[in-house]
Amino acid sequence: MPRQLFVTTALPYANGPFHIGHIMEHIQADIWVRYQRMQGHAVNFVCADDTHGAPIMIAAEKADKTPEQFVADIAAGRKQYLDGFHLSFDNWHSTHSPENTELARQIYRDLRDLSADKGGSLIETKTIEQFFDPEKNMFLPDRYFKGECPKCHAKDQYGDNCEVCGSVYAPTDLINPFSVLSGAKPELKSSEHFFFKLSDPRCVDFLQKWTQDGKLQPEVANKIKEWFSVRTNPDGSKSEGLGDWDISRDAPYFGIEIPDAPGKYFYVWLDAPVGYLASLKNWFDKGGPKIKHGDTRSFDEYMAADDTEQYHFIGKDIVTFHTLFWPAMLKFSGRKTPNNVFVHGFLTINNGEKMSKSRGTGLSPLKYLDLGMNAEWLRYYLAARLSARNEDIDFNADDFMARVNSDLIGKYVNIASRAAGFLTKRFEGKLTSDFGTTGAALLADVRGAGDAIAQMYETREFGKATREIMLLADKVNAYVDQNKPWDLAKDVANNQALHQVCSVLINTFATLTRYLAPVLPGLATAVQGFVGSDMTRWQVAGNVQAITPYQHLMQRVTPEQLDALFEPPAPVESAQPATVTIATVPGGEEIAPVIGIDDFVKIDLRIAKIVECAAVEGSTKLLRLTLDAGEGRMRNVFSGIASMYKPEELVGQLTVLVANLAPRKMKFGISEGMVLAASHGDEKANPGIYILNPWPGAQPGMRIH
Ligand code: MSP
Ligand code: ZN
Repeated sequence: MPRQLFVTTALPYANGPFHIGHIMEHIQADIWVRYQRMQGHAVNFVCADDTHGAPIMIAAEKADKTPEQFVADIAAGRKQYLDGFHLSFDNWHSTHSPENTELARQIYRDLRDLSADKGGSLIETKTIEQFFDPEKNMFLPDRYFKGECPKCHAKDQYGDNCEVCGSVYAPTDLINPFSVLSGAKPELKSSEHFFFKLSDPRCVDFLQKWTQDGKLQPEVANKIKEWFSVRTNPDGSKSEGLGDWDISRDAPYFGIEIPDAPGKYFYVWLDAPVGYLASLKNWFDKGGPKIKHGDTRSFDEYMAADDTEQYHFIGKDIVTFHTLFWPAMLKFSGRKTPNNVFVHGFLTINNGEKMSKSRGTGLSPLKYLDLGMNAEWLRYYLAARLSARNEDIDFNADDFMARVNSDLIGKYVNIASRAAGFLTKRFEGKLTSDFGTTGAALLADVRGAGDAIAQMYETREFGKATREIMLLADKVNAYVDQNKPWDLAKDVANNQALHQVCSVLINTFATLTRYLAPVLPGLATAVQGFVGSDMTRWQVAGNVQAITPYQHLMQRVTPEQLDALFEPPAPVESAQPATVTIATVPGGEEIAPVIGIDDFVKIDLRIAKIVECAAVEGSTKLLRLTLDAGEGRMRNVFSGIASMYKPEELVGQLTVLVANLAPRKMKFGISEGMVLAASHGDEKANPGIYILNPWPGAQPGMRIH
């Protein structure tokens, strides 16, 4: 029975172009959607730009544009990414649209006007105090105020928490607070706000069931459980379970005006998920949607139908909005709730990889495409790394090259090239269906794995699926090595055997291609032309009859491409005269782009004493350092120097600490800074890591200028 699926990815903020994290989320969802389509299901896969809210308003003002113009310009830049990475959205819309305005207002009215027999309204107003920029004449989010940390006195800290000492506070607690936009001192001002009564027992009961009934990923459901309970937070404050949700903002605001409340706008997160529906509705109005055979449903009927399944792919940072606010909005406005929310972790780039220092850390998706790198390499690599769990994954350049070149091309693509030439030259491109005993067994084996691999796609275990497919490719390659077509080809007496072996190879290749088609849609299309069998369906009956002459299917990744991809952008002004050629690369690493003294003073280097030092259980690389930088407290810092120093050698030594580096959460705990150490750019040239040590007389806390 075909299923009817409505699938979305999170709506990216229209405040900038896509970054690689967006692309990863889109690729994950796209693979799942393509797999569902191959199974014959009716899928509507939509997304939109998330256009509203203060940050976009402010960004537009900076760019000297109206918010409307600003988000329209961002929207115009989307297509090159969507096409470039083979993202098969059926529709891309905007939250700044008539559909979204109408739907958001309707959902709000439904929540507001709930009748007494249903427990009454879930919207209420309260007067609250908020930070106000008197110069800009607007309320601003806490992040838009800065000042000196009241605890550690670090300058230039945000209004919600200190990035140096980690304490949490309100903008008015800052010493000498100022608005980032105008420089004005923030004022506390009261105003009437609209709230969605999430603390109402109706909502709490419903959400407890909705989030704990087993549909969500276990690690996600467990985390959510905590939000329902009364508890003490690590910073000592109390949490009271679900609180009411503030859904309004005062003018001036770029958003949707609240019905019957002039000057009040929906907070961006109220209308953002409604944008999923708005995009789908827009798709219906365009006449595009895929609806199960023989069905002529309107948008409203489709959304209300029992057999419509609704799924949202999102990142771990927006779980609250999708598992509490959004299902509650839908439920209590009388609508169906999502069938599931699929949460993924974050993508990091070349994380903790020593060699990567010279390669930088950013991966620009546009640069990737501009360099002519194949989008399907990235799709394959991410598929190989993805699971159904909410866990971070790292893009590692060397791992990327190995998986693409050794696995994808070495194991799979090469199967075709090994067989095609003989078939074209010796058998006019025609295949036999007489596969011989071992050939027939191998083919049955490869085809028999289809159901298990399908199940892996269905459950979003893409890493498992690619591993399984590569294991099958290994078996095929073992068969090649046993039967040696190049030897058979030497003697025409072996013609029949040669024909059998090559026919087996092309048939296994066609099957493996179908298994990889959700990940590699472009390659699958090329193979479809080559073997003449349909690659858009998961189940295909029949053997390949004939091939067209083999065309090269995929290039290898080169180290030069990866170097270019991660090469930091050239500095605008270079102090290096153009005529000087650098004969040797010092320390195996090019000198970084020129910076001014202003850039340098941003880095606060301090003398620190290593008070304690210990090995880190579960890591062969790291040591845990307890550092005294003269602050009247100790810092915990992890350093990748375990291969060089024994803990007891370091205790009592002085070294250099980057003291204002944002604390970083690592597997083993929080690292509150970084100690400096020297190393060669090429690990093979010199694998050592040498920690810095000041001359006698330096004292903990002294700044290094
Ligand atoms: N506009 C909101 C979503 C509204 S949905 C109704 C938003 N936008 S976002 O642009 O910040 O993020 C869009 C998606 O990208 C989110 O799912 C987010 O988790 C994901 N990612 C952002 N950075 C990411 C990585 N580094 N890695 C993987 N996904 C990441 O949130
Ligand atoms: Zn602080």
